[in-house]
Amino acid sequence: MVDVLLGLQWGDEGKGKIVDYFAKDYDVIARFQGGPNAGHTLYVGDKKIVLHQIPSGVFHANTINLIGNGVVLDPVTLKRECDTVASFGIDLKKNLFIAERTHLILPTHRALDKAAELSKGQQKIGSTLKGIGPTYMDKTGRNGLRVGDLLDKNFTTAYIKLRLKHQKLLDNYAFNEDITAWEEEFFEALEFLKQLNIVNGEYFINRQLKEGKKILAEGAQGSMLDIDFGTFPYVTSSNTISAGVCSGLGVAPQTIRDVIGVTKAYCTRVGGGPFPTELDDETGEELRKVGNEFGATTGRPRRCGWIDLVALRFACMINGVTKLVMTKADVLDAFKELEVCTAYSVNGKETTEIPFRLEKTPVRPVYKKFPGWSSPSSAAKSTAELPETMKGYVQFINEYLGVRIQYISNGPGRDQLIFIG
Ligand code: GDP
Ligand code: IMO
Ligand code: MG
Repeated sequence: MVDVLLGLQWGDEGKGKIVDYFAKDYDVIARFQGGPNAGHTLYVGDKKIVLHQIPSGVFHANTINLIGNGVVLDPVTLKRECDTVASFGIDLKKNLFIAERTHLILPTHRALDKAAELSKGQQKIGSTLKGIGPTYMDKTGRNGLRVGDLLDKNFTTAYIKLRLKHQKLLDNYAFNEDITAWEEEFFEALEFLKQLNIVNGEYFINRQLKEGKKILAEGAQGSMLDIDFGTFPYVTSSNTISAGVCSGLGVAPQTIRDVIGVTKAYCTRVGGGPFPTELDDETGEELRKVGNEFGATTGRPRRCGWIDLVALRFACMINGVTKLVMTKADVLDAFKELEVCTAYSVNGKETTEIPFRLEKTPVRPVYKKFPGWSSPSSAAKSTAELPETMKGYVQFINEYLGVRIQYISNGPGRDQLIFIG
């Protein structure tokens, strides 16, 4: 069976740490969408690692990691990451596999991303500039190059043809940055990529399923960044929700068992776009400071605010979430009073549904106040040691969402995760 673990907010919910924790219970960890826009943090001993392309199970020597066809792959980032992982003694020949249908991010895709963002001015998305949008555009536009194409002797010709097409678009944007150095790195990394395990992903994973292996699909970004159901146009270019697992790996819907949703105990967003519960005051500043809310991929400060149950319930609905994990509960140790958004007030009328164009709708969050924990939670090792006030907060969220929080994460460390049943 396939379980899915994904983010329910605007990304950075702590997916990397949770996948790393659960990895020991699975045979295969598979990424099904997104690319190096992701930054998944985990700790190996006291070493902090941020993974962008490789699934977060890679530090478990006996777990297979698959980069699925739904992912977009930057060979340069992959090579860098492989070097880091290999320095921990992990044998990538044994535990990393890449689907041949995975689309390649070319240097010109990155340039196009940059050019498109620049041209948007004030309306820019706040893209990570990793070339994600242009690569998915070439996929749906039926132009893209895939990992399997690398083994074709005509690859370079196809590359030059696509590059020329991109150059015309770049000329239109009057973008004239020199990308020669990027291209050199790119071709070097392609040689490296060719040496890795390139497989037919869909047969690979279905064989694993037939053998009774346990698979965990690792989401990137978050549900509110989904191309269809997120806060469009301030979204990423892939289906980040559970539906993306089937098309991003080649598994049938009935193989999916649990959908594990990860949410922070509060909320963050990095990049542009609407964020109803954003706190543009010292409370927001305090959340950023205590939560160390700076992007794992770009280093940008993350926008911070209270948990938004309207958005969270929407994400649970769209994904069919069966279990919840709440991360960064320890960050709220620092606050005397907490607020939870239970509805949006739009032009004086309350709603618990997300409006069509959130960024164009004057939304005022309706809050319910909660007392802070009043005792530190980060040292807790069991439910009994968690503050009573935290249990009340969790209970309210469970009831509102109709799904239970089963784990509480109370620190970035590998073992700071409490099963609460
Ligand atoms: P991801 O993209 O969902 O994997 O999340 P990121 O790695 O981008 O961001 C999560 C950040 O929070 C990382 O710096 C983690 O080390 C950290 N983190 C994860 N869980 C916890 C937690 O329970 N408490 C605290 N304080 N930090 C956490
Ligand atoms: P993880 O997997 C948070 C955001 C960007 C931008 C928008 C589009 O670490 O949770 P893109 O580069 O995809 O064109 O950017 O999406 N974004 C993320 N925000 N976490 C991520 O990944 C993100 N990946 C993209 O900031 O607003
Ligand atoms: Mg991240």
